[in-house]
Amino acid sequence: MADDLKKGLEGVLVAESDLSSIDGDEGRLIYRGYEIEDLARGASYEEVLYLLWHGRLPGEDELAEFADAMATEREVDDDVLATMERLAEADERPMAALRTAVSMFSAYEPEDEADPDDLEATLRKGRRITAKIPTALAAFERYRLGEEPVDPDPDLGLAANFLYMLTGEQPDDVAAETFDQALILHADHGLNASTFTSMVIGSTMADIYSAVTGGVAALSGPLHGGANQDVMEVLMEIDESGKDPLEWVEEATDEGRRIPGFGHRVYNVKDPRAKILQERSKELADNGDDKWYEITTTIEDYLTEEKGLVEKGIAPNVDFYSGSVYYQLGIPIDMYTPIFAMSRAGGWIAHVLEYQEDNRLIRPRARYTGSEDEEFVPLGER
Ligand code: SDX
Repeated sequence: MADDLKKGLEGVLVAESDLSSIDGDEGRLIYRGYEIEDLARGASYEEVLYLLWHGRLPGEDELAEFADAMATEREVDDDVLATMERLAEADERPMAALRTAVSMFSAYEPEDEADPDDLEATLRKGRRITAKIPTALAAFERYRLGEEPVDPDPDLGLAANFLYMLTGEQPDDVAAETFDQALILHADHGLNASTFTSMVIGSTMADIYSAVTGGVAALSGPLHGGANQDVMEVLMEIDESGKDPLEWVEEATDEGRRIPGFGHRVYNVKDPRAKILQERSKELADNGDDKWYEITTTIEDYLTEEKGLVEKGIAPNVDFYSGSVYYQLGIPIDMYTPIFAMSRAGGWIAHVLEYQEDNRLIRPRARYTGSEDEEFVPLGER
């Protein structure tokens, strides 16, 4: 019998979805039929959330109503703020703090939304979760700085408001637009590990808070969402080494070090999101410190041209340039992955809702390779 065991579920189709499609050979990503480039350059994150959750782009009035509804739900309960403060004092990792915050949101949901079969109620909960994550995250970061949280500004979009709550200052247009674009690029990406985790949890008809909490947990791993932080830490390691970036990357790869931000289970060519983030990183570099962009491109050129990785199908992924973009926006390095989660929560919720429309409990099998027919010996005789 052909070996039908697919380690890591590589290449295994487990569902049908209208949400997003990746062409790993062409380096193409679409959300509900729209090219990611068009959405990143022409839409807002709120428009993309509406597209993912409702199946079409909103008209002006629909977008205003949707964005206003989310803006009015940004406040988080005082208990959540108090917990973020305690976790900040305990020097907890931001992704763990985020996981805690999301799991607490369920305590404050309206009574009449408890039915997990009510998909409309689940969508309202998902919208609230997505609205509240930026507030909880920004509060955690302010507490880490020994500052009080900044109340959300309902007149700002989700992206601009997060930067405002993080710094206490209204972001300039370039920063707000760049961050909004980054949120669009990270919103959905097929059945990546964290999305599939959320779907497994949703397939048991568990609540949406549990599904999003599971997504946060899966995304925190360095092989998945945690790579963007690793990329920035490599850039800083290079900068602090005093070595020429080329010399550093030659030594690192000769030692067999795997460079984060390169390689992908699906893309065999450069991730289209990396191309857009590279453009933004260069724009920021041209108007500021170009060190990080230059180091990043030096690494990419070496791995591509000297090591021939791209010929082997190992190319820059979404995390490779997000590090230098976020760093130039002044975002703390260990907040990069929580920001990924802030955006991807929209995709997790979309996939859970879509799968639950025709739900089937996700329960794969394993081929048993253990021993058989062991004779039980009572404890006293072992
Ligand atoms: C994300 O799935 C998604 O869509 C994820 C994501 C999303 O939007 O949700 O796109 C976000 O997670 C992006 C990926 C972020 N992770 C990293 O950048 C970490 C570094 N990359 C890898 O560890 C790796 O590429 C994975 C984990 C991302 C994918 O791994 P696979 O598909 O399991 O491939 P693999 O680890 O088996 O590697 C295949 C080959 C190996 O060569 P051989 O050992 O077979 O000779 O590629 C090589 C690897 O050594 N390789 C690398 C490399 N990554 C893989 N070689 C050098 N540098 C690297 N970074």
